[in-house]
Amino acid sequence: MSLLITNIGSLVTNDPALGEGPLGLLADAAVVVDGERIAWVGPAAAAPAADERYDAAGRALLPGFVDSHAHLVFAGDRTAEFNARMSGQAYTAGGIRTTVAATRAATDAELDANVTRFLAEALRQGTTTVECKSGYGLTVADEARALRIAAAHTPETTYLGAHVVAPEFADDPAGYVDLVTGEMLDACAPHARWVDVFCERGAFDGDQARAILTAGAKRGLTPRVHANQLSYGPGVQLAVELGAASADHCTHLTDEDVAALAGSATVATLLPGAEFSTRAEYPNARRLLDAGATVALSTDCNPGSSFTTSMAFCVAVAVREMAMTPDEAVHAATEGGARALRRTDVGRVTPGARADLLLLDAPSHVHLAYRPGVPLTAAVWQAGVRAF
Ligand code: NIG
Ligand code: FE
Repeated sequence: MSLLITNIGSLVTNDPALGEGPLGLLADAAVVVDGERIAWVGPAAAAPAADERYDAAGRALLPGFVDSHAHLVFAGDRTAEFNARMSGQAYTAGGIRTTVAATRAATDAELDANVTRFLAEALRQGTTTVECKSGYGLTVADEARALRIAAAHTPETTYLGAHVVAPEFADDPAGYVDLVTGEMLDACAPHARWVDVFCERGAFDGDQARAILTAGAKRGLTPRVHANQLSYGPGVQLAVELGAASADHCTHLTDEDVAALAGSATVATLLPGAEFSTRAEYPNARRLLDAGATVALSTDCNPGSSFTTSMAFCVAVAVREMAMTPDEAVHAATEGGARALRRTDVGRVTPGARADLLLLDAPSHVHLAYRPGVPLTAAVWQAGVRAF
């Protein structure tokens, strides 16, 4: 079954060969979807026939958002912690343990229901690809369970046994690193594509992070790193050195860190929801973009530091607070996320790509920043299926 989506006022293809600028923008465009894939992209006047026709009525069509950093397997709630922060208390990595206790106590069905709910919430807002981390179990069984549950929903699963040192190992962090790089890795690797570590004061230092990422890589998991979120540190340099797909947060960067990212294939993934929800200073995207680094935007959805599934919110904040242009922010939330996940089949509207599409109730992608907080989703297709 093929579908012609026509009368698109403004189309973001993310292919400079198909249209104007880095977004490859096309006005008065059409897209033909054939099964799961995009079959044709071009001017509406030249569109081929298809089995069905959808009139976009002059609205903007984008690739579905690619949310390359999320922590969706959890139970419980940290409203009180957020509330205390908004009265001046600082965010610390220690809050993770609150969610660990709730997650361990939850049934598989409860955890699965949460993942299902958050993915549906994201899909309604135009997110068609989501990465999902473990990290709230911190035992062999609980980490493997989190990844099993995540893997039923997305191929982009990340082993984050090294989120913080498990409470049982409070006096023996080296013992916990042994577990994470040994028995826990054995149990988790079959369900994961990526390995991640929270490289930060209060979590894991550079040497521990290196051991964890290297062990994961030996088992076929590609590294990605929670790096330089709360303080300056070795995370970004380590990510680049180990060829990580992405260094995430990048809030505290030295000039050397920026240069290392710019000279590498490691994507700098910025997570404005985390700075918003921890009332912290935003990372400077301009510095990274001007140096030539690839930037992704992502939600970091988790109950502690960033409880949002909204990529549109991240785009708006990145534009207003992180010196990104609307074009750059939309690119980072689509193609940037795809690069962070080393995917070429999503994040773009080009022939052969998966038909993941977001139709906005607006004439331009700029409205994502221009009309912050407004539900602008008119329609969503995921792998060619109308999802909203
Ligand atoms: O990406 N930084 C580490 N992990 C999460 C926070 C997790 C939590 O506070 O529960 C993050 O912000
Ligand atoms: Fe995170």
